[in-house]
Amino acid sequence: MSTEKNKLTTSWGAPVGDNQNSITAGSRGPTLIQDVHLLEKLAHFNRERVPERVVHAKGAGAHGYFEVTQDLTKYTKASLFSEVGKRTPLFVRFSTVAGENGSSDTVRDPRGFAVKFYTDEGNYDLVGNNTPVFFIRDAIKFPDFIHTQKRHPQTHLKNPNAVWDFWSLSPESLHQVTILMSDRGIPATLRHMHGFGSHTFKWVNAEGEGVWVKYHFKTEQGVQNLAPDVAAQLAADNPDYHTEDLFNAIEKGDFPAWKLCVQIMPLEDANTYRFDPFDVTKVWSQKDYPLIEVGRMVLDRNPENYFAEVEQATFSPGTLVPGIDVSPDKMLQGRLFAYGDAHRYRVGANHQTLPINRPRSEVNNYQRDGQMRADSNGGGSVYYEPNSLGGPKESPADKLAPYEVSGSADSVAYDHHDHYTQPGDLYRLLSEEEQTRLVQTIVGAMKPVESDEIKLRQIGHFYKADAEYGIRVAEGLGLSIPE
Ligand code: HEM
Repeated sequence: MSTEKNKLTTSWGAPVGDNQNSITAGSRGPTLIQDVHLLEKLAHFNRERVPERVVHAKGAGAHGYFEVTQDLTKYTKASLFSEVGKRTPLFVRFSTVAGENGSSDTVRDPRGFAVKFYTDEGNYDLVGNNTPVFFIRDAIKFPDFIHTQKRHPQTHLKNPNAVWDFWSLSPESLHQVTILMSDRGIPATLRHMHGFGSHTFKWVNAEGEGVWVKYHFKTEQGVQNLAPDVAAQLAADNPDYHTEDLFNAIEKGDFPAWKLCVQIMPLEDANTYRFDPFDVTKVWSQKDYPLIEVGRMVLDRNPENYFAEVEQATFSPGTLVPGIDVSPDKMLQGRLFAYGDAHRYRVGANHQTLPINRPRSEVNNYQRDGQMRADSNGGGSVYYEPNSLGGPKESPADKLAPYEVSGSADSVAYDHHDHYTQPGDLYRLLSEEEQTRLVQTIVGAMKPVESDEIKLRQIGHFYKADAEYGIRVAEGLGLSIPE
């Protein structure tokens, strides 16, 4: 056996005699099928792509750690928050939403902000965005919504008619639309934006007492955005601008960091709060529920390999640890199914065993086999339960805290429909220049819409949020406010 380093081998480890010339009959060929190295090389190349994520396909990732800065163990027993100074390794993936894997970074779009904490009690994924709210609030609308953001089935072009038709018929989107069309719609870099868990989650402490919680990652780099003309130029000149910026910053030791803060709501407040606190189109007032700092996230290491780490990473809102649970949020509930299903399709049934996804804590269960099982598959250990062979046992202390539910099983809408107060408050909070840019951006985005009916319907929503907001958009589009 050769000990020579750097020798090119086949995937089976045998030395390759020639990697530049295929085996042919004479110097002119034809090529012989007996060149198994050539066949293997071509066949493997054909299989290099896995399906891109159906949303959030374009992304950049980095490793780092989370460090606890404040003791919040009275609210959660989650081990990653167990003591001040404790560090937990993590992996983050930032992304745009609608574009394909090769699309431009500097487009107007929400940014995905997905964090995988490798805690000592299993992985915890916080799969959020750079916005605190979302366009819709029931998972059943998600596929339709995303269709409007993707390409037209015939022209294969982006379709503003579909975008604004859907939004104007889904007024719950107004808050997120206002954020998206504001300066924050195009972050300067991935380092210069906040992150949010967006949904309401539940924290449970060691005594089994729960609270509702919302997460906010506050960028220590400060919020900075790109002017639309600069963003458009960058999209043409360097479509990977954000990816490059993140990689280079970390490479030169300029490690980006975020403070993690939470808003805590007592469980019983959910029954009396002025709107449904599980509605992901709303923010909780920070006057009612102030931000409490819990720790700091630092990104200090680039991936060694993009595909192995960033592309194969699988984040799911259902990847939870003791002390952290879900809420009844109808979007979150749908996501609990969607992600695992996407992972089994996109990466495979054993995606959890890949190095980027594998928990750093011990995995002990009775799941076996399946495609591409690359770990020891449990060896000869006991493979069923119940058993009398001393196999791994459930821990009742880690059972989810019970949660009382009531009502009839039915397809029911949310029981409140104020889609206007919070977007209106946001509009009024902006400076005059920010309002002007917001209106200009909306007018620019709505101009290509062919139907006046759609435009007028949407203007009606802006108007209901704030009369001035609606009037200015209408003026920009050369239309008058509908009755
Ligand atoms: C990615 C579905 C709402 C944030 C994905 C993926 C699916 C999906 C199927 C691709 C997963 C993969 O292939 O790995 C849904 C559904 C939703 C929903 C059905 C609503 C019912 C949301 C919301 C947020 C969000 C509200 C943020 C608050 C993300 C992020 C990713 C993602 C950050 C990319 C994760 C990564 O970097 O791998 N979503 N999504 N999604 N989604 Fe959602």
